[in-house]
Amino acid sequence: MMRHITLAAILIAATNLQAHAENLDEHTYKNYVDKSGNISLPSDVRKTWSHLGSWIVGDKKSPGYGFHDVYTQPEVVDIYRKTSEFPDGAVLVKEIRTVEEGAQTTGLAQWAGETSVWFVMVKDKKNRFKGNSNWAEGWGWALYEAKDPKVNVSKGFQATCMGCHIPAKETDWVFIRGYPTLMKATP
Ligand code: HEC
Repeated sequence: MMRHITLAAILIAATNLQAHAENLDEHTYKNYVDKSGNISLPSDVRKTWSHLGSWIVGDKKSPGYGFHDVYTQPEVVDIYRKTSEFPDGAVLVKEIRTVEEGAQTTGLAQWAGETSVWFVMVKDKKNRFKGNSNWAEGWGWALYEAKDPKVNVSKGFQATCMGCHIPAKETDWVFIRGYPTLMKATP
């Protein structure tokens, strides 16, 4: 009897996970990717998506100088914690913001100002857009500037993204160590 209940519970859990994953990919490929593989920037992710983690590139001379905050859909966090994989339709948005500085009651503080750019990755487990330079290695890759967030200014994965992402190849091209939200719940 006990064994049957356990098996049923596992089956229900597995089915829920599956249903979740299906909704996610349908939603992504309806709302953020058109039929030709053009990616658009998801809007207002700070309000409803999960914050995965923050980086700061503090050296003014670095190309990435600024605050980097990374977001994904809440379902992706649930699925990643169970499977250690990004499901089809997972979207990662990295927002880069300027560094502001000034005296606060806590001390000399830096905080994030205006957005300069957004980097976007869209998980594609089906190799949907063969021959499209913005789709490679199981992801769609895009870059948007604040001055015109409707235009993907990336020259393609190989020309614009690959060189820098090679160190993360073993973790599906994502710099996982910066994303504690994917690992476990906070107390
Ligand atoms: C100058 C090197 C560099 C270039 C060019 C670059 N990336 Fe990244 N990217 C990184 C690094 C390093 C991180 C994580 C640490 C950080 O943000 O400083 C990152 C993180 C990201 C993230 C957050 C998820 C993750 O993978 O950790 C996304 C999304 C992303 N990059 C997309 C892109 C896309 C799309 C392109 C091309 C249009 C691109 N990147 C080009 C270095 C780069």
